[in-house]
Amino acid sequence: MDQQTPHRVLNNGVTIPQLGFGTYKVEPADAVRVVSEALEIGYRHVDTAQMYGNEREVGQAVRESGLPREDVFVTTKLNNNQLTYDDALASFDRSLDDLGLDFVDLFLIHWPLPTVSDFVPRWKALEEIYRSGRARAIGVSNFQENHLVRLMEETQIVPAVNQVEIHPYLVQDELRGFDAKHGIVTQAWSPLGRGAVLGDPTIAAIARRHGASPAQVIIRWHVQRGDVVFPKASSRARIEENFRALELHLADEDMTAITALDRGERTGSHPDTMAWIP
Ligand SMILES: NC(=O)c1ccc[n+]([C@@H]2O[C@H](COP(=O)([O-])OP(=O)(O)OC[C@H]3O[C@@H](n4cnc5c(N)ncnc54)[C@H](OP(=O)(O)O)[C@@H]3O)[C@@H](O)[C@H]2O)c1
Repeated sequence: MDQQTPHRVLNNGVTIPQLGFGTYKVEPADAVRVVSEALEIGYRHVDTAQMYGNEREVGQAVRESGLPREDVFVTTKLNNNQLTYDDALASFDRSLDDLGLDFVDLFLIHWPLPTVSDFVPRWKALEEIYRSGRARAIGVSNFQENHLVRLMEETQIVPAVNQVEIHPYLVQDELRGFDAKHGIVTQAWSPLGRGAVLGDPTIAAIARRHGASPAQVIIRWHVQRGDVVFPKASSRARIEENFRALELHLADEDMTAITALDRGERTGSHPDTMAWIP
C-alpha cells in the first residue's frame, strides 16, 4: 500500500487512499492512457463502474502498470439494470472478468432506485460477494439516511462507504455526520462539481494566496475534511495538478470559507427520485 497518500480505514480494517482517480465519462479509447498516467503519477486508487463501459480498459491499465495488485485500490459498481439478487451476483462475475482481476477492493450499489425496486435483495447479494472474498469491502452510493437505516435494520453488514455527490456547493454535512456516526466512510463524487465550482471567486482568492490552482484547493478541502475523493481529468497535466493537491495545506479559515459556499446545489440526480435504467 502506498505510503504517500493519506488514508482512511474502513469498518472492516481495509485501508483506502483518500485521493483516487475517477473514470466517469472516460471513453474506453482513452481509459488505458489516462489510468496508466494516473498510476505513473502516483494515484493508487481508481473508481470505475459497470455503467461507465470502461472496466476492461481500467483493468488493463491496472494489470499492465507493473504495480503489485495489492498496491492499487480498485472500486466498481453494480449497474442500475441489475435489480435482483441473482442479477447482482452474475453481473459481479462479469465485472471481474472484464477487469481481468481476481478481486476488487470495493464493490458498490450504484443507486438505490427506491421508486424502481427494493435495494435490500441487491445488498444481500453484495454481502454474499463479500463473504466469498472477491470484494475486500462493500458499500453503497447515493444512499440517503433513510436508505441506510433500512439496510442496517434488515441486513447484516454495515456498508463500508457511502459515495455521494459532494463539492463546495453541496457540502452534505448532515449525511456525512450520519455516515460518520455509523462508521461509514463518505466518498465525494463530482468533487469539482464537474467543473462548476472552479470559477468561484472565494476559491480563486484562496488559490492565489496559496500559489495553487482552484482544483487543488477544492481537492485539498475534501481531503482535509476526511472524505475520499476521485476527481476525473483528461490531460496528464491536469491529472498531475490534481494529485499535487496533497502538497497543499489549508488553514482553518480557508476550510470554513469554502464550506460556507454551500448552496444545496446538485449537478446530478436526487437519490430519492433517480429512476434511470440504462
Ligand atoms: N457514484 C456516482 O453516482 C457517481 C456520479 C458521478 C461521478 N462519480 C465518480 O466521481 C468521479 C469524479 O466526478 P466527475 O467526473 O463527475 O466530476 P469532477 O471530477 O468533479 O469534474 C470533472 C471535470 O472537471 C474538469 N477538471 C478536472 N481537473 C481539472 C483541473 N485541474 N482544472 C480544470 N478542470 C479540471 C474535467 O475536465 P477534463 O476531463 O476535460 O480534464 C471534467 O470536466 C467520476 O469520474 C466517477 O468516478 C460517481
